[in-house]
Amino acid sequence: MTINHPHSIRIKNDAEIAAMRVACRLASEVLDAITPIIRPGCTTLDIDRLAAETMRQQGTHSATIGYQPPGYPPYPGHLCTSVNHVVCHGIPSEKPLKKGDIVNVDVTVITPEGWYGDTSRMYEVGECSIAARRLCRLTYEAMWVGIDQVKAGAHLGDIGHAIQKFAHANRLSVVREYCGHGIGRGFHEEPQVLHYGQAGSGPLLEPGMIFTIEPMLNLGRREVRELKDGWTVVTRDRSLSAQWEHTILVTPTGYEVLTVSEGTPPPPLFFGDAALH
Ligand code: MF3
Ligand code: CO
Ligand code: CO
Repeated sequence: MTINHPHSIRIKNDAEIAAMRVACRLASEVLDAITPIIRPGCTTLDIDRLAAETMRQQGTHSATIGYQPPGYPPYPGHLCTSVNHVVCHGIPSEKPLKKGDIVNVDVTVITPEGWYGDTSRMYEVGECSIAARRLCRLTYEAMWVGIDQVKAGAHLGDIGHAIQKFAHANRLSVVREYCGHGIGRGFHEEPQVLHYGQAGSGPLLEPGMIFTIEPMLNLGRREVRELKDGWTVVTRDRSLSAQWEHTILVTPTGYEVLTVSEGTPPPPLFFGDAALH
C-alpha cells in the first residue's frame, strides 16, 4: 500500500496555464534574441544588456535583477551567464568570451500580470573541444530524459532517478546543491525537483502542476563551491559544467514544454514523435 503524503504543490487552472504559456514563451524569446551575438569577443555583459532591452520591448522584466534570497546579496544581472567551470548563477561581466568556451544563459522573466517563465540553454563559442560538445549534448539529453518521465500518476522522484541513471551511464556527475522548482506567480515554488534520487519516491504528479527541470552535469566530480561574490557557483575540481532548463506543465497524458519559441532546439532524435505532442 502507498501512503498519500500531503503536499503544497499548487495546481494551476486553465487561465493560469494560459498565462504561464505566455511568460514561458517570452523567456524563450529572450534566449532567441541573444543567440546571434554569442561569438568570440562578445562579453557576458553585452548578452545581459541585449536581454534587458528585449525584456523592455516585451513589457516583461527580469526576475533575477535585485533577487535576494535569505543570506544572499542582491543578484546584479538581468540573467545568469555561466562559462566553462561555472555551474550556475554566473554574473555578467566585461570579460570577453573566447573561442572554445561553453556558456549557459539562464533567463527568468516576469510578465506584467506577475507570472514567471524560466529557461536556459548552452551555447558553444566558436569551435569547441569534443569533450565540451559531448557534455553540452549529453546534458541536453539528460534534461529530456527527465522531461520524458513527466505524466500524471508518475512520481516526482522518477525524474531525478532517470536523469542520474543517464548521467552516470555516460560517466558524468550530477550537481546536487541546486534543483528544479515549481514556478508560477512565484519564482521558486514547491516542489524541489531533484536531478538525482529514487524512482517511485516523492509526491505523485497531477495535471496542472508546473515546474522546471534544469540538470547541471559535470565532466569531473559533482562537488561545487560558491565564490566570494556570494553567487557564482563553480566545480571544485574546475571541470566543465553544463545545464539546460525548461519549464514543464504536467498534463493528463504526459507533459507540455512551456518554454518554447522559434529558436527552441528540437528534442533529441531518440524521443521520436513522442516528444512532439
Ligand atoms: N534562473 C535560475 C533558476 O533556474 C535562478 C537564478 S537566481 C539568480 O532557478 F539570482 F542567480 F539569478
Ligand atoms: Co529555474
Ligand atoms: Co533558470
